[in-house]
Amino acid sequence: MDLRIGDKAPNFTANTTEGRIDFHEWLGEDWGVFMSHPADFTPVCTTEIGRVAKLKKEFRKRNAKPIVLSVGTKPGMAPLDSHREWINDVNETQDANVDFPLVEDPNKEIADTYGMIHPNANDTLTVRSVFVIGPDKDIKLIISYPASTGRNFTEILRAIDSLQLTAEYEVATPVDWQHGEDCIVAPGVPTEDIPGKFPKGHRIIKEYLRTTPQPNI
Ligand code: BEZ
Repeated sequence: MDLRIGDKAPNFTANTTEGRIDFHEWLGEDWGVFMSHPADFTPVCTTEIGRVAKLKKEFRKRNAKPIVLSVGTKPGMAPLDSHREWINDVNETQDANVDFPLVEDPNKEIADTYGMIHPNANDTLTVRSVFVIGPDKDIKLIISYPASTGRNFTEILRAIDSLQLTAEYEVATPVDWQHGEDCIVAPGVPTEDIPGKFPKGHRIIKEYLRTTPQPNI
């Protein structure tokens, strides 16, 4: 399936290291950050899982729940046992406490549904996909990294800040925007409506480029 921004995130039921889940029910009213890892017991993935665990408070602040799929499990070992043994390594080496679900996907059905396997990169292992899913279960953001490039979770959290802000207010966020910085008034807002909608003030740099202080702080 060729999933795109705006599509409904496909639901699935699966066994995970935190028990059996129905994905949509597990998400509830929260945001989801669904990530694929090429394989258990690999160095880049180990650092990523550790980082996500250490960012627990940052995810929670944003009502965002991380969940991970890894299709490359230890040969001869049941997938969940492989995930659990790997989590022990992550906790030991990254000084972390992983308490979010690692999903079992022995037949790669979920990976296929989400298009996490890019056959011209590797026809059996997933790339590093990131799907940010909103409380309405719509896909809000998709990023793909190759196996050899670890993700930047500072950027992923920054993007979630922007997604959550722009879902609530008629603003967009400019290049390299960080929480607390000025925003762009959405192009659809007539200039005469800006003072009523953005009482903190605004600047008109060009008629198509209008800024306002971040409205929700
Ligand atoms: C890693 O996570 O370290 C990794 C996985 C697959 C290919 C290359 C690196």
